[in-house]
Amino acid sequence: MARIFIVGSGVVGTATGKGFLHAGHEVTFIDIAHRRLEYLRSQGLDARDTLDLDNEPDSFVFLTLPTPNVGHRYDLSAFEDGTTTVGKALGTASGTHVVVVRSTVPPGTTEGLVQPLLEKHSGRTLGEDFHLASNPEFLRAASAVEDFKHPWMTVIASRSTRTVERLSELLAPFGGELRTFDDPAAAEMVKCAHNIFNATKISFWNEMWLVSQALGLDLDPIAQTVARSAEGSYNPSYGIRGGAPYGGVCLPKDTQGFLGLADSISLEMPLLRAVVRVNDVLADRAAGGRSERVAGEKAAVSPAA
Ligand SMILES: NC(=O)c1ccc[n+]([C@@H]2O[C@H](COP(=O)([O-])OP(=O)(O)OC[C@H]3O[C@@H](n4cnc5c(N)ncnc54)[C@H](O)[C@@H]3O)[C@@H](O)[C@H]2O)c1
Repeated sequence: MARIFIVGSGVVGTATGKGFLHAGHEVTFIDIAHRRLEYLRSQGLDARDTLDLDNEPDSFVFLTLPTPNVGHRYDLSAFEDGTTTVGKALGTASGTHVVVVRSTVPPGTTEGLVQPLLEKHSGRTLGEDFHLASNPEFLRAASAVEDFKHPWMTVIASRSTRTVERLSELLAPFGGELRTFDDPAAAEMVKCAHNIFNATKISFWNEMWLVSQALGLDLDPIAQTVARSAEGSYNPSYGIRGGAPYGGVCLPKDTQGFLGLADSISLEMPLLRAVVRVNDVLADRAAGGRSERVAGEKAAVSPAA
């Protein structure tokens, strides 16, 4: 059984560590918050304020550090601080450890930020002295521990095939569908697109709820019917290949027409406007590609006008 270190022992770190404990691994939780350490210790867990890899055999070090936003950007300062401590610990480590980025990070972070930080602070080289992987977490905060133990999807990415294999073996007992990539940025993009898709669907139905309210309609039975009638809803493969706009008669007609209906009842439909705008950009690209300039111009024009 592999030794697991959890760096950043909040919601995701604790669920991750408890899941591995449950599976029979030895787990050490690392955190900088005194109260968090006290809480973890009160549960009988091995919780420490520093990562020490001296004399440790090969292990997995999971980064489950916070990556909040500040306005329209990610604040990676705590993530960088935690990664730096891992780099320093690797500098005096005897084993060959696998560092696993489990936080949600912008695509490119594992290779563009984590790798250079680890190499700089350890003086060691990726692929020779330590290994690196991306393994985003999909759990829901409300059912964190159970979701970790029973994932419906596991995504692993690493430039090292052996690292993908080792991490796959570690996570296989939890079950769920496994998808692997060799580019960590692809796994990071999976997680960001996953969250943005969920957010978009929720906002879509909220926009429909606003229209239904304005028209005196009860959205629930309508939404439940569309969930079964719309191919985009019942068929997971529908509409997911990027690169081409929607066309035909119905989708252009009803998206444009409905914007006019919304105008007539003085209701804003920003999501539907954006849907039409994205389609216009893709249509322009398909027609010869002046997309960036056209997208900027179109942003100022009402598609319903
Ligand atoms: N909460 C969720 O439902 C959820 C689900 C999937 C993914 N994620 C992602 O997982 C990551 C962690 O989220 P979370 O909800 O567990 O955050 P959290 O705030 O609950 O936990 C983060 C922990 O990291 C600790 N920490 C901060 N700086 C540290 C450092 N330098 N060294 C060690 N520990 C440090 C904090 O004290 C805190 O206990 C984020 O990237 C988040 O987007 C969260």
